[in-house]
Amino acid sequence: MDSNPALCAAITNRIAVSPQRRITFAEYMDMALYHPEHGYYSSNAVKIGFKSGDFFTSSNLGADFGELLAAQFVQMWEILGQPVPFFLVEMGAGQGLLALHILECIKLHHPNFLAALEYLIVEKSPALRQEQQQRLQGFSVRWYNLEEIPTNSITGCFFSNELVDALPVHQFILEAGKLQEVYVTTQEVFSASVPRIVEVTGEPSTPQLTQYLDLVGVDLSQSVYADGYRSEINLAAVDWLGIVADRLHRGYVLTIDYGYPASRYYNPRRSQGTLQCYYQHRYHNNPYINIGQQDITAHVDFTALERSGKGYDLEKVGFTQQGLFLMALGLGDRIAAISHQKLPISDLLRRRESLHQLLDPMGLGGFGVLVQSKGLNEKENSQLLKGLTVPE
Ligand SMILES: C[S@@+](CC[C@H](N)C(=O)[O-])C[C@H]1O[C@@H](n2cnc3c(N)ncnc32)[C@H](O)[C@@H]1O
Repeated sequence: MDSNPALCAAITNRIAVSPQRRITFAEYMDMALYHPEHGYYSSNAVKIGFKSGDFFTSSNLGADFGELLAAQFVQMWEILGQPVPFFLVEMGAGQGLLALHILECIKLHHPNFLAALEYLIVEKSPALRQEQQQRLQGFSVRWYNLEEIPTNSITGCFFSNELVDALPVHQFILEAGKLQEVYVTTQEVFSASVPRIVEVTGEPSTPQLTQYLDLVGVDLSQSVYADGYRSEINLAAVDWLGIVADRLHRGYVLTIDYGYPASRYYNPRRSQGTLQCYYQHRYHNNPYINIGQQDITAHVDFTALERSGKGYDLEKVGFTQQGLFLMALGLGDRIAAISHQKLPISDLLRRRESLHQLLDPMGLGGFGVLVQSKGLNEKENSQLLKGLTVPE
């Protein structure tokens, strides 16, 4: 599948009217993914699924991920003294599968929690929002833009799975020892009727890029960083967390995504960054092909979330890996129970494979899980979250 011509035209036009006829890589990625009509996530191009589709997430492997998260949310509610209402705000809900699994589990096993629960979804993509609304018809769920939620109005938990990696990132490159930003521009091609989208580099578009690197403790002037070193900076993630913290009155922020602390993220040996594009379950690092038809992601720098969170009154509760988090919430028991289940052998094997995928440290099990809190008193803060305990 080629690029979407209407999206390429929109990008080319944006470049044509921009100062110096160039846009930042972040603006480019934002348009490629979220252009209101033609972006990958806004149109019907996005395909999430285990077998068909461009990529899959933990929720595509079955209900276990959502059910184990539900157990964590119930404990959060209890720690906060069972407030009514308790808000669960899911941000970037994809196909709505995770919400479905969480809500079905709560309905079946935790009626008191269900009675206190207000489930909100913040979803940018109109196409996915529609899919979520169809899938969740049987449940009381409301959809909001993050900005619409009033300041200090949420007691509960804001959470996301694979949202932050989908936010548009700035890219930089070291040239003659100096940080330069990657921009996107167009180049006329003699033999083609449409201009080609190409990269150029230049002075950073904003001082926030160097401020971000200072925040996470990365010093690019060290000799270990060679010329040509390239990576990403997710300013949108820092802004997003600021808005979330502003809306949270009392409770937690739970962020699950692939990524690592800044010391690993900006390891000099990871010299070409973390940008990855997904198209029909194949991944590569060229964001300038299949424009509007492929997902573009960058790993998450959890140090940036932790440190910027402090500035927004978010306290770090813990950081762990998804495999450990889910084991602590009971994934091990589920794996052990498989052999006692009366299912056809092919179903048992499939289920075992799915649960192991959630655990796999080289895959979903290696995702980072960051929990932050705001407004908790000393007693509430001292209560260890189940998912952060060390599994036996
Ligand atoms: C990779 S999908 C994750 C899907 C889902 N959480 C799951 O576990 O299957 C990213 C989701 O985030 C949404 N998204 C991206 N940027 C967003 C934003 N700024 N606000 C809300 N949703 C956003 C996308 O439309 C999509 O639903």
